[in-house]
Amino acid sequence: MNARKVLITGAASGMGREIARLFAAEGASLALLDRDEAGVATVATDLGAQGYGCDVTDRDSVNRIVAMAGDTLGGIDGVINAAGILDITPFVDLDPASWDKMIAVNLTGPFNIIKAALPYLTAADGATIVNIASVSALMPMPGTAGYSASKAGAAMFTKSIAMDLGPRIRANTICPGVIKTEMTRYLWENPEHTARAAERVALKRLGETSDIAKAALFFSTDDSGFTTGTELPVDGGFSWR
Ligand SMILES: NC(=O)c1ccc[n+]([C@@H]2O[C@H](COP(=O)([O-])OP(=O)(O)OC[C@H]3O[C@@H](n4cnc5c(N)ncnc54)[C@H](O)[C@@H]3O)[C@@H](O)[C@H]2O)c1
Repeated sequence: MNARKVLITGAASGMGREIARLFAAEGASLALLDRDEAGVATVATDLGAQGYGCDVTDRDSVNRIVAMAGDTLGGIDGVINAAGILDITPFVDLDPASWDKMIAVNLTGPFNIIKAALPYLTAADGATIVNIASVSALMPMPGTAGYSASKAGAAMFTKSIAMDLGPRIRANTICPGVIKTEMTRYLWENPEHTARAAERVALKRLGETSDIAKAALFFSTDDSGFTTGTELPVDGGFSWR
């Protein structure tokens, strides 16, 4: 990881923030993006990284900020797309605007970022892309039509670009199960809900952001040098059922 230059979205919170911490500890130079400008600035200052307020759905802003980040870092050889949103609502009640937003952030967001970073990734040696999807990309769950569609789309998008961009660039997807972040606070703050969620997986606990960060590190180094276009569930044993 030493001397790698990595751009991470969703870095103000949860998995993106933890990935940034681990990668910084491993010696990477980082550009951190999030729509939460103050939050990402705090994380960036803590880690000695570059922080940028950026909405991944705003293509002009993404193009401008990724170019700025790439020029400041002196290149980009790794991208992590962790920015995401979740709306669990039964399909009959799902607001079309919410569908549009989930597709825009969770699917088109990674497209925008990777398109903008492509000149840098292509110029780099052994560049890597890691997209954070979800077990929702692999299995249906009630109330997740929009979220699951966006995440399954992101996983197949990743597979397809792995084909198009190899052998110089590898692209892989991580499919987290229930991980303790702001996104799932409604669940893990309630001990009964936590116990029920833990009981349904083989490893009998919820995931930590560090579980995801370690998988992202694997996919962002030569340790995974013969692995591309794959989906790795990091879910305690949830999605096989
Ligand atoms: N927490 C879980 O259990 C879980 C499970 C499976 C997948 N995921 C996925 O993991 C990723 C990380 O989520 P998390 O759990 O760390 O959540 P989180 O809410 O803690 O962090 C998500 C971050 O994304 C940022 N973000 C949202 N929309 C954005 C936009 N349009 N532009 C830029 N930044 C934006 C938010 O400001 C926030 O900092 C997401 O893609 C999420 O869908 C989470």
